[in-house]
Amino acid sequence: MDKVITIDGPAGAGKSTVSKALAARLGYVYLDTGALYRALAYKALRDRVATDDPDALAKLCATTDVTLHNVDGHMTVYVDGEEVGGKIRTEEVGLAASSISAFPVVREKLLSLQRDAGARGGIVAEGRDMGSVVFPNADFKFFLDADLEERIRRRTRELGDGNQPAQTACVAKDMRARDQQDSQRKIAPLTASPDALIIDSTSLTVDGVVDRIIERMAFAGASRPAGRKPNGA
Ligand code: DC
Repeated sequence: MDKVITIDGPAGAGKSTVSKALAARLGYVYLDTGALYRALAYKALRDRVATDDPDALAKLCATTDVTLHNVDGHMTVYVDGEEVGGKIRTEEVGLAASSISAFPVVREKLLSLQRDAGARGGIVAEGRDMGSVVFPNADFKFFLDADLEERIRRRTRELGDGNQPAQTACVAKDMRARDQQDSQRKIAPLTASPDALIIDSTSLTVDGVVDRIIERMAFAGASRPAGRKPNGA
């Protein structure tokens, strides 16, 4: 069976670019789980649902249909039948996603969707708790990190305003807030699984990171005793 590969890490560490490139190289499906949290957050913001109110979020979860569809190897998120695409890629939605992701009702709603997407293997799943909670028995687990300054630079560039000090300051503020929220929440906090390989991407190119991942997989495959479960929790 094709493998399940998990890539966790903080915002701006390069997870999406690396995961997409890795999935393309292996011919695997790419699952961006942050997009699921962003999609729910997008609806919460649009409908003025308080992103810190557990009752309001429970109602939002109960009345929202979130689905994933494989479009050319990329699991695309739909909310109540609408493809939310680019609308969820703002800093505002990212911060709201971080906020709602601390609530159990939200995490529970999205858990089975993620597991179902990976049930047949052949997937590169990216997020914060892929290796620790969603796919504890993943075949290969990676934790991608980078210096805060570099992560801020990358995110600012991604948003298209790389030279504006004001934009950089805004991204820096949001990123610090998200790092804090994501790593200090009680359930499924951002953490490197003990069996994940930590890769610091600060001074690596995307291809450099992908090469390192593929080398690691080849090495683990070659050195693993026959019949033994790889990397499982
Ligand atoms: O990866 P991202 O920036 O698109 O994720 C947006 C937010 O969603 C992130 O700040 C925390 C939350 N998230 C999560 O809690 N668990 C995941 N597996 C993925 C994202």
